[in-house]
Amino acid sequence: MPKKEDYLNILSDAPLNEPERQHYFIGLAQKYFERQVIINNRKLTACITTFGCQMNARDSEKLSGILTAIGFKIIEDEAADFVLYNTCTVRDHANQRVYGRLGKINHLKKKNPHMKVALCGCMMQEDAVIDKIKANYRFVDLIFGTHNIFKFAELLLLMYSADEMVIDIWQDTNQIVEDLPVERKYPFKSGINIMFGCNNFCTYCIVPYVRGRERSRPALDIITEIKRLVADGVIEIMLLGQNVNSYGLTDSVNFPVLLREIEKIKGLKRIRFMTSHPKDLSDELIKVMKESDKICRHLHLPLQAGSTRILKLMNRGYTKEDYLKLVAKIRAAMPDIAITTDIIVGFPGETKADFAETIDVVKQVKFDNAFTFIYSKRTGTPAAALSQVPLEEAKANFDQLLKIIKETAQHQIGHLVGETHPVLVEEKNSHDQEMLSGRLSNNTMVHFKGELDLIGTIVKVKLIEAKGFYYLGVM
Ligand code: SAH
Ligand code: SF4
Ligand code: F3S
Repeated sequence: MPKKEDYLNILSDAPLNEPERQHYFIGLAQKYFERQVIINNRKLTACITTFGCQMNARDSEKLSGILTAIGFKIIEDEAADFVLYNTCTVRDHANQRVYGRLGKINHLKKKNPHMKVALCGCMMQEDAVIDKIKANYRFVDLIFGTHNIFKFAELLLLMYSADEMVIDIWQDTNQIVEDLPVERKYPFKSGINIMFGCNNFCTYCIVPYVRGRERSRPALDIITEIKRLVADGVIEIMLLGQNVNSYGLTDSVNFPVLLREIEKIKGLKRIRFMTSHPKDLSDELIKVMKESDKICRHLHLPLQAGSTRILKLMNRGYTKEDYLKLVAKIRAAMPDIAITTDIIVGFPGETKADFAETIDVVKQVKFDNAFTFIYSKRTGTPAAALSQVPLEEAKANFDQLLKIIKETAQHQIGHLVGETHPVLVEEKNSHDQEMLSGRLSNNTMVHFKGELDLIGTIVKVKLIEAKGFYYLGVM
């Protein structure tokens, strides 16, 4: 590994432009790690654990791509030479899980003194977290944030040449650096970032503080990346952003226009996107979806709360009636669409009457699925200053909501029983070796018998039975 003195020379020779600079560090790291293979008679191993959303999952594919390019063998086991946690801080529970894992890793590190531990992702953008790690988790070797993740190769070399904790956190950035190695989890489907950050500042949410201001990638870069993915065997893509509906608003290419362009890419079979903010979902988008053969029949449309009073306190920018009207418009255009949502229970000041409004929307809309969360206070957000709902009350409401969602989902999912639909086969079923699992256009899972070589292809499956949130079918 580079010595501290060598690192200064390495730095002085590095190109200043990105991504050339990172390719330079990747090239150098390859040489160091080749030497490690000779010394240890094996490749060094790395384990990445990802918390949080699809954005983080995509980031981890990029981190994994760089580690693989350098010469690491990626493994699932945390008894690795290099352990990396890509963290989330959207709710306190996510933070607690990271601290729990760090506690355990300390023991492993004592057994293997060459082991290196790194932390990145949203949680690292919070000063209080960094202070806590510096005080209580001194064995951590490298910390970086969400804005400089592209610098991973450079930071990794720095870490191996340093003898103290390396910390590099940026407050914000307007840089978008792509064209670095990526290691996809699935060969046939891929996420793709179309925008970064968020400007919506929902009052409960920490994402705008840890992911920075909204930045859209140029449409041409996105198209080029998708074409490259398709040439590499990808048939389904998921366009990623905190609010894809506001893509390119400052530009002439808005989200519907981008979708129309992506639709034209030959060989691409399915297009998904997330997340859609109800306040920015345009008629133009509904039209493009309706006319498209490739855009999947699924919308994830976070409701958050059914009470207009609470929605206002949340700064969501729509009322209960707006949301219901929007859903009616979407369903009128595409009767077969599946709508899923996110709901927060126990936002500060939420009364029984407010919660009843959420239940009312759930019953009216009949979501295909809903992710429900008990409100978690995030330091620095406006809602943290408001008086909190007692946890007991929030929990009781949460349980009630979950029960109703199960009922509506069962009702919705039952719709297609007896019909035959295309399914993209994703993997071997984890419970039954003879079964495969795949997804309908509307994102619902289907399990059916089939050969492994069907994974990554689209096959027709007759839906025999609806079970909770999924189907059993036959090919
Ligand atoms: N950009 C997406 C959401 C990203 S966070 C959107 O606006 O829809 C994913 C979900 O986490 C949110 O939809 C919300 O339901 C939930 N969430 C965010 N902050 C939360 C908090 N402080 N407590 C509980 N749930 C929260
Ligand atoms: Fe958070 Fe709201 Fe932005 Fe979604 S739109 S990431 S909930 S601030
Ligand atoms: Fe979590 Fe960051 Fe995503 S806070 S939900 S990983 S944007």
